Amino acid sequence: MLVLGIETSCDETGAAVVRSDGEVLSDVVHSQVKVHAPYGGVVPELASRDHLRNVVPVVREALSRAGVTLAEVDGLAVTCRPGLSGALLVGVQAAQGLAWAQGKPIVGVDHLVGHLLAVFLRFANTEQPAPPEFPFVALLASGGHTALYRADGPEVSRIHELGATRDDAAGEAFDKVAKLLGLGYPGGPIIDRLAKEGHAEAVDLPAPMRRKDSLEFSFSGLKTNVLRWVEKHGRPGDDQTLRDLCAAFQRRVVDSLVKKAVTAAQREGVRALVLAGGVAANRELRESARLASEAAGIRLVVPPFKACTDNAAMIAYAGAQRLLRGENDTGLLRMSPNTALPRLTRKGRGIRREA
Ligand code: KG4
Ligand code: ZN
Repeated sequence: MLVLGIETSCDETGAAVVRSDGEVLSDVVHSQVKVHAPYGGVVPELASRDHLRNVVPVVREALSRAGVTLAEVDGLAVTCRPGLSGALLVGVQAAQGLAWAQGKPIVGVDHLVGHLLAVFLRFANTEQPAPPEFPFVALLASGGHTALYRADGPEVSRIHELGATRDDAAGEAFDKVAKLLGLGYPGGPIIDRLAKEGHAEAVDLPAPMRRKDSLEFSFSGLKTNVLRWVEKHGRPGDDQTLRDLCAAFQRRVVDSLVKKAVTAAQREGVRALVLAGGVAANRELRESARLASEAAGIRLVVPPFKACTDNAAMIAYAGAQRLLRGENDTGLLRMSPNTALPRLTRKGRGIRREA
């Protein structure tokens, strides 16, 4: 089955043509980073307008690179949740229009399910690990989400959250700390690069959510601690202190993510731990997760970077699994800013008492 996927939930306009077995025929991503960079974060209204300008050219490019026409695809898949409402609407309307014009089935895909299944994508000419078998535990850490999941299958009903962040997402913390240090946007790659030349022990920052039994995360306190440090010592210039501060912050984030991810995989008794989301590009996270998984006898599966960041190939693949089951959302597709995956962690609070 050949599926055209469309993704517009945040600041990337994506379209991809993917086979239901994961083979990626094309994967086109138009990034809006330049549009949002002056603001140090995503501006929702600017995102919608940019999606509107780019969604048709990006779809055309994806079809052309795959060497297929719209008439030749078997169905469409579009991100319908969670994300920025205005941004989601652009993709959903475009996909519905194309599906209707061609009389093709269309399914909505939860963006988080897309991230969790990205590990099954197969890119040409790209080195990648063999995909895991179900069940596995996945750490999804991006600019908008940070959570641990157990996946027993590709369906929403078989994916369960084990714990999530109570406040900021890990990528959001990188971006906010970079902003307060005057480093630019997105902050993750910049801090990653600076941290490489720093000494994490040189700056004392308290560890976030240290409780071993909890699989929840919290990063806003850590960000505030960096702010307090800057208020006390002044904002460092482009010097060793800046690198040490970045290294200390990154170490705290990575330690928290890795410890909890490995604990979750052990507790669930699964063989594989999967990394997903833009933060999975982090050099220290990859290395630290590799060492900790090895020590715990768990297989770590890290998809290629282009599968980790926002893309439409993962949406096409997740949608293909729904289409294969004969599901069709024609006439029923609704957009929502919230995920369909049941949430365990309440923002700013603790574990929900009952389901
Ligand atoms: O998955 P993604 O592309 O988009 C979202 O769905 O959010 O993730 C983007 C996030 C940004 O917050 C960015 O700062 C972070 O991933 N990121 C990194 C690195 N590369 C990207 N964080 C830490 N280290 C990196 N090397
Ligand atoms: Zn994402």
